[in-house]
Amino acid sequence: MKRKKIVAGNWKMNMTHDESINLIKELKEISSNYVDIKIAPSFTNLNKAVSLLGSSGIEVIAQNVHFEERGAFTGEISIEMLTSVGVNSVIIGHSERRKYFNENEFILSKKTKMAIDNSVNIIFCVGEELSEREKGDHFELIKNQIISGLFGLDIEQIKNVVVAYEPVWAIGTGKTAENYQIQEMHEYIRKLFNDKYGSDISQQIRILYGGSVKPKNAEEIFSLKDVDGGLIGGASLNFSDFNAIVQAANG
Ligand code: 13P
Repeated sequence: MKRKKIVAGNWKMNMTHDESINLIKELKEISSNYVDIKIAPSFTNLNKAVSLLGSSGIEVIAQNVHFEERGAFTGEISIEMLTSVGVNSVIIGHSERRKYFNENEFILSKKTKMAIDNSVNIIFCVGEELSEREKGDHFELIKNQIISGLFGLDIEQIKNVVVAYEPVWAIGTGKTAENYQIQEMHEYIRKLFNDKYGSDISQQIRILYGGSVKPKNAEEIFSLKDVDGGLIGGASLNFSDFNAIVQAANG
């Protein structure tokens, strides 16, 4: 089955308001019927990004969301705040959230439920540390992240989920995982979905790779059988790199 590729830029904690506007104006010129393009600016730039991108076909997504609906949670952003500015997708479970903000499986499963209950799509990130891979624990770890974060969802709900496999040791390091490591993990993840939800879902679900994807390696990575695009950090912060990566997914 042919799955449409996704190229999503995760801007992380980068870009001022003016810098965002400049990049978005450039991104608007990217055209691709064959790739779903998404960008995840910071919260302060979401509203403007949505209005600038309008009907360009580039989707604006959030980098995070709180797991409660509303209330006394100083500094947090609710799902309703996101949808009220036209944002209908969110990244959940990024390794930086897990690592620096102590987001555990319990918190993440509450976030996925909050998103799904509000018809917000999810890019759910999983990934192992280098030490876990060296011990040979990486498959088991990814399996546990997926079971606890996603497998509470039913077969209809899971259709609103995209998975991103991002080995922590490849994020921001310039050290991309080897092609065989990427393919075997994506295949493993797809099999988990097959065993839980059946073959239709496992063939439909899109699984992105993230971790030092650059113009020079994107085409090769995107050509791997079970890779349906990428979640891009550093290289999403300038037009020419991001555009080149989108074009690599076009092929
Ligand atoms: P880099 O592309 O900078 O390695 O970041 C990947 C990532 O974490 C995307 O979410």
